[in-house]
Amino acid sequence: MSFIEYGDTIKEGDTAIVFLGHESMFPVKVQHGGKTQTKYGVIRHSTDLIGKKYGSKVTCSKGGWVYILYPTPELWTLNLRHRTQILYSTDISLITMMLELKPGSIVCESGTGSASLSHAIIRTIAPTGHLYTIEFHQQRAEKAIEEFEEHKVGHLVTVKTQDVCKNGFGVTNVADAVFLDIPSPWEAVGHAKLALKHEGGRICSFSPCIEQVQRTCLALEEHGFTEITTSEILLRVYNVRTISLQIPDLGKTADGNSSTGVDGGNLSNEDALCPNLPQETIQFKSGVPLKEMVGHTGYLTFATKNLF
Ligand SMILES: C[S@@+](CC[C@H](N)C(=O)[O-])C[C@H]1O[C@@H](n2cnc3c(N)ncnc32)[C@H](O)[C@@H]1O
Repeated sequence: MSFIEYGDTIKEGDTAIVFLGHESMFPVKVQHGGKTQTKYGVIRHSTDLIGKKYGSKVTCSKGGWVYILYPTPELWTLNLRHRTQILYSTDISLITMMLELKPGSIVCESGTGSASLSHAIIRTIAPTGHLYTIEFHQQRAEKAIEEFEEHKVGHLVTVKTQDVCKNGFGVTNVADAVFLDIPSPWEAVGHAKLALKHEGGRICSFSPCIEQVQRTCLALEEHGFTEITTSEILLRVYNVRTISLQIPDLGKTADGNSSTGVDGGNLSNEDALCPNLPQETIQFKSGVPLKEMVGHTGYLTFATKNLF
């Protein structure tokens, strides 16, 4: 298993996703002799996981079953242990495209945080790109290094423990793109410019508050960045539901038919007009938005460093 390529068999040391339902899944580190408790009973790693195919339906000790999924950055984002606030796949998808990331890209990022975005960047720039990620919180940096090794992507990323606003990214004129998710990104804009290639590149800064955006845009302008734009991306999720609607009974028309003009099915027109009988309904499938929509995460400010 590696987060940058697919392998079809579950092996010792893999990080697999135990899927009980869309709202219920968790990661598990596969180990010989290991046991994982679920509400459907125990999963025994040696007999139930190792050697089985990813995507398999595994029966737990109480008879219920789960699916074992191959880990992807998207699933990792939904399942990782939060050490900080993290970025989710909606923002990540826009960041990846607007920073023009592709295999071979060199990227600088700060802070690493819980490494949600880092995993997505690494998957995009593999197998020949590199991520330099800066995190001044020692334990968060160490945990990220441990996870990158476990997920077999350690060779594609360098984690540095330093203050990006004071000490920068530790590299000069190498990056195709820079990403900032820190409280004071305007203090790191000069360092970002130094880290970007001489011939130019793209920058993105994520900030929850508009005041942070204003200061960052001013700093970008002062440092000669162009094409400065700020966007917010909002996701609307739909559930597919069968909807039942009552057909209004507007009384009889002159020709004796029900005035609704809708086929009454098995009901005669007399029946349809009888107040004691259930009213006619029609059923249809529709996409229904969730009652609560995902709200504001942050503003994404993009800009370009040009050669001239
Ligand atoms: C919101 S988290 C980043 C989350 C990350 N984008 C993710 O998707 O998991 C911000 C991180 O930046 C780190 N940080 C804040 N200011 C920093 C600085 N000046 N230099 C380096 N790291 C910094 C914090 O310790 C924190 O871990």
